Amino acid sequence: MKPSIFVDYAISDAVMDYLLKHCTVDAWREEDTAPREELYKRLSVAEGYLTGGRRIDDALLEAAPKLKVVSTVSVGYNHFDIAAMKRHGVTGTHTPEVLDETVADLVFALMLGSARKVAELDRYVRDGLWKRGDVDNLFGMDVHHATVGIIGMGRIGEAVARRAAFGFGMTVNYHNRSRKPEAEAKYGATYMELDELLAASDYVVLLAPLTNETRGMIGKREFGWMKPSAIFINASRGATIDEEALIEALQKGTIRAAGLDVYQQEPLPADHPLLALPNALLLPHIGSATAKTREEMAMLAARNLVAVLQGEEPPHRVPEFKS
Ligand code: DGY
Repeated sequence: MKPSIFVDYAISDAVMDYLLKHCTVDAWREEDTAPREELYKRLSVAEGYLTGGRRIDDALLEAAPKLKVVSTVSVGYNHFDIAAMKRHGVTGTHTPEVLDETVADLVFALMLGSARKVAELDRYVRDGLWKRGDVDNLFGMDVHHATVGIIGMGRIGEAVARRAAFGFGMTVNYHNRSRKPEAEAKYGATYMELDELLAASDYVVLLAPLTNETRGMIGKREFGWMKPSAIFINASRGATIDEEALIEALQKGTIRAAGLDVYQQEPLPADHPLLALPNALLLPHIGSATAKTREEMAMLAARNLVAVLQGEEPPHRVPEFKS
C-alpha cells in the first residue's frame, strides 16, 4: 500500500504526478494556509508532510502519530523544532543548492535597488514628478568597485562573492563560523572579524542561517559599527537581526539604507514602521522565487520525501538528522 502524505505547498502537476506514483496524496489547495485544526486532522493519518515554512513543533507532532518525515521546500529549516522531531522519531529534509544562484541574484537586486533607489525612482516617474532632467536628491551610490562584506560564506555567500568580484570589480570581505581558504583564493576575499567587516563595508550582506548562535546577531551595537553611508542587506531570516535597532538606524541615518527580503513577522503587518521608511527597500521573502527554481525546489522536496518513505537516504536530509 502506498504511504499517505499531506501537502500544503502549491505544487505543479509534474510534482504532483511524481508524488502520486509513490504516495496517496492529500493536498491543501486553498490560498490561505490551513487552519491549525484542519492541519492536525489531515496530518493524523499522514506518514509524510511536504510543506513550506509551517512551524513543526510538539503540538503538531502529537497530532501526527504516523509521521516519519517533514520535507520543507526551502533551504532554511529554522521552522523545525529539531529536538521535538527527534523525540517523535520524525526526520527532516530541505532543498539546498538548487536555489543558490537565484538567491544570489536577488541579493544583487537588493543591493542595486537600494543603492540606485530603483523603487523610489519608479514611483517618482509614475507619480508624474519627472519634470526636468536631473533628480539630484534621488542620486544613488555606486555598487561597482565598492566594498561588500558578506556575513555567512556558504554556497549562497560564494555565489554573491563571485558576482561581486568578477561582475562588479568589488572588494570582497567575509565573516563566517570557519575560514574558507578556497573562497579567499577564488574571489580574493578577506576574512574579517564581524566588527572589522561592518566598519569596512559599503554593503553589508547578511546570509547566515538562523540558529541559536545567529539569532539577533546584528543589533544596535552592530549598526553602530557600520558606515553612515552603508547599505544593509538581509536575505537570511528576519530574526537574525534586531528589527527595532534597524528601524532606528534607518530613521536616524546611522546607516544609509536597507534592502530586505525577510522580516520578524511575515507577511509584514500593514502598520509596520518599516513601511514608512523611504530608505528601506522591501521584498516579500522571494529570494528563491523564480518559476524554474521553485519548481526544482518542489521536485527536490518531493524526491526527499519519497526517498525517506521508501527507506532510502534522501538527497538532502537536514544535517542535524544525519547519523
Ligand atoms: C529558503 O529556501 O530558505 C529561502 O528563504 C526561500 O526564499
